[in-house]
Amino acid sequence: MDAASLSNQMNGHGGIQVETPIWINGQVVPLSQAKVGVEDRGFQFADGVYEVVRFYNGRFFTLREHMERLARSAAGIRLALPIPVEQIAQEMRNFLPLAKLSDGFIYLQLTRGECERNHRMPAKCSPTLLFHARPLPPAREPGEGEGVKLLAVADERWKRCWIKCIGLTANILAKDDAISQEYDEAVFVERELITECCTSNVFAVLGQTLVTHPVGAKVLPGITRLVVLDVAAKLGIRVEERALREEEVKRADELFITSTTREIHWVQRYNDRYIGQGRCGPMTTKLHRAFRDRVRAETAREIAA
Ligand code: PDD
Repeated sequence: MDAASLSNQMNGHGGIQVETPIWINGQVVPLSQAKVGVEDRGFQFADGVYEVVRFYNGRFFTLREHMERLARSAAGIRLALPIPVEQIAQEMRNFLPLAKLSDGFIYLQLTRGECERNHRMPAKCSPTLLFHARPLPPAREPGEGEGVKLLAVADERWKRCWIKCIGLTANILAKDDAISQEYDEAVFVERELITECCTSNVFAVLGQTLVTHPVGAKVLPGITRLVVLDVAAKLGIRVEERALREEEVKRADELFITSTTREIHWVQRYNDRYIGQGRCGPMTTKLHRAFRDRVRAETAREIAA
């Protein structure tokens, strides 16, 4: 998409075109007409989970992996999916052409639905499931552009970070700390150990070894992270899944973050400390190239509806 049509897409309701379609509980309606009740538990308690799924050239990337994580997240909050994930995936495939976007992401949200406010989970609920698409500019070429500036903040989140839940107050506060101090992203640190960033996973290159924190209580099982680990294994790169000490990160040869919307993005600075040579390093570039090859191969196979 060129810059003019991207800006067209963005000129609307809160940055989204008002006429953009949204799929909500089985219906496709213009976003401006979609309604969720004030008693929805997503609104009342942030009692829900979400997914962000990338598409390239009108075709989904790692849709199955995102759907598997959605199922795990829903089980993590003891919420039965209103329809099976295979059906959600098919609804997303059917929906994508209606969004008339080539490159972007689907934001999907599932909540426990509407019922009288009470902390106790309702015996019966009717979940709210919705998703819509948003545009993204074409992905950067590996190694191109500015590096990310990371600000270290205390990790004050809960211990079920493997659940992709919509309660993101700690992440939002961390992001705001970063942005207000002219950084791009916040990286969580707990007792001098790096866990992940507020919207991405983090990897360090130490010599010829790639190191990242294991997923679970403290780290979201990022789908991009998963692809990077797979690509690294195929390239014969040595990988260690363990907590990184702040000291190791500061003297890392390379540092990068991963997420669905950013793919692989090299880190220029950790607080006021420049990483490596202060530019995108060779291992990061190599992994990003292999990642892009994976995107091309998989999106060529993924059949758009
Ligand atoms: N964020 N860790 C956190 C805390 C995240 O919020 C994300 C993604 C990731 C990377 O996961 P993945 O590779 O599956 O995108 C790691 C998304 C993009 C978001 O909240 O918008």
